[in-house]
Parts: sequence; structure tokens; C-alpha cells
Amino acid sequence: MQPTLHQLKVFTTVARHQSFTRAAEELYLAQPTVSVQMKQLAQTVGLSLFEKVGKRLFLTEAGRELLKTCQDIFQRLEQYEMLVAELQGMARGKLRLATVTTTKYFVPRLLGPFCRRYPGIDVAFEVTNHQRLEERMASNLDDLYILSQPPENLNLQVQPFLENPLVVLAPTDHPLVGKKGLSLQCLNDEPFIVREPGSGTRQAVQELFSKHNVTVKTKLELSSNEAIKQAVAGGLGISVLSRHTLHPGEVDEVAILDVEHFPIQRNWYICYCIGKQLSTVAKTFLEYLLEVREHPPAALKVVALNQ
Ligand code: PGA
Repeated sequence: MQPTLHQLKVFTTVARHQSFTRAAEELYLAQPTVSVQMKQLAQTVGLSLFEKVGKRLFLTEAGRELLKTCQDIFQRLEQYEMLVAELQGMARGKLRLATVTTTKYFVPRLLGPFCRRYPGIDVAFEVTNHQRLEERMASNLDDLYILSQPPENLNLQVQPFLENPLVVLAPTDHPLVGKKGLSLQCLNDEPFIVREPGSGTRQAVQELFSKHNVTVKTKLELSSNEAIKQAVAGGLGISVLSRHTLHPGEVDEVAILDVEHFPIQRNWYICYCIGKQLSTVAKTFLEYLLEVREHPPAALKVVALNQ
């Protein structure tokens, strides 16, 4: 059996997207080229690799096993490339980083100087919600993770990184704006904009509210912090988001309410799976993050807004 590396790469891309069309787009190939490659690969294997149920594409058992094999092969090749780079005395290779959504307000700003310092390092950066991040951890898909609530059921090395206070946001003309020491009960029956199920922010808010028997009316559910901020500014309701979502120095059309038990004090943590052989690239980035923790740049300092 002699599949080509190119066929295996096309195969993993199709498997990841569950779509020939999207794989073709990602690889800058024509869709028929992808189909031909997959047909040839199936012939080489001697079994079908995909099956179509309705309009959706699924991996067959042979396909699933091939995917695992491909992941091993590509990981080993990447490690080898990094080893060669190390022998050449360079930090070179790919950093696989996955973080929860709110970190998009600062992680890209950290990556800029890092990539300038280490031009040989490329970054695959996945931004997703808490639940999907846990799934990625369990499948050992990335080198490093940044999130608020490291899962207890996984064997992780955890380092605290930065504070992540969650604050109550309201439109600037909301009647509670400017009032001091509001009780949590003031939020009872307020129209609320919440993050989607699986979000760590949502879970932290739900835990606090249910502990204090506060019931808010869910007006809108959105999976984007930025969209929530716009909805709050547009007067659709109030919400709870990380203070990192507010841009220091910019005019945000939202105000922070001074409510008891807020901010919910959380932290960001840098994690990796115990037992994972961290590549030189991942170790270099981890050291860089710890350096940033000691001397955070201005963009990372959470600045009070309207308070
Ligand atoms: P989320 O995670 O993006 O899933 O809400 C943020 C957090 O856990 O603080």
C-alpha cells in the first residue's frame, strides 16, 4: 500500500471539514482534483474511506483508522522538521495554540512580537468556546491552551497567566448606570443577552445566578462576545462579559454596572497535557508567555471603563 503524502494531506483536510468542496478551497485545489485523489486513495486502501448519509459526509471505520494514522505520520514529520531546525540551532516549526474566545482580545497582540522575535515559527491558532477547547484537549490536538477553567478530569499542567474579571455591561442610558452597590436582585427580570451553551463565561454567570436565586430573562443568545457588546450598546439588554472585551482608550457604548458579587474574579491559565512532549517551539512560546506575565504590555492591562 503506497499512498502519497499529498493524498494523505488531502484526506485529512476532507476529514476535518467533512466536505470535498471546503477541503478544495483550503488547499487551493479544484474540487474534481480532490475527488480523484480520494478515489485513488480508496483504491490503494481497498476500502471506502467516506460515506454519504443524506447530504453529510462521514468517515467509514477504515477512514477513521486512516485519519488516526495520518495524524501520527504528520505529527512525527513535524517533530522531525523541528529536530532538524534545532540541530541547525533555530527555533523553527509550527506552534499549535488553542484558546477560548475572549482571549482573542489579547493573544493575537502577543503573537505579533513573538513571531517577530522568532521568524521561523508559524502559528496554527484555534479560537473556540470552552467546551470545544476541552474536546480538543481530550483529543490532544494542540501544544498549548489558554482558558479560564481548566477541566479537572484531564491530566494537565496548569500555570496561572492573567486575571479575567467578568463584569455586568449595560447600555450607557440604562437606569442602573452610575448607581453604586447594586444588589444582585436588581438584575432579576432584566432582559439578558447570554453566550451560547458550552461557553465558559455563560457557565460562570449561571453558577453565580443560581447560587443567589436570580432569574434573568434570556432575550438573546449569541456566540460572539463582540456581537453581544453591540447588542448591549443597541439597547437589547444587559450582559456579563470579560472586561478584556472592552477596548481601553476606545469609546465603547456600554457601561459597567456596579453590582455585588461582580466582577466575577477568574483567571486565565496556560495549560498543556501532562505526558505531551512539548516541542522546542511550544516551550519557547510558553517561556515567552511567562515572561509576558511578569511584564505585561499596556494592551494586556485591564483598564476600568466608566468607573
Ligand atoms: P468562553 O470562555 O469563550 O467559552 O466563554 C471564556 C472563559 O471561560 O472565561
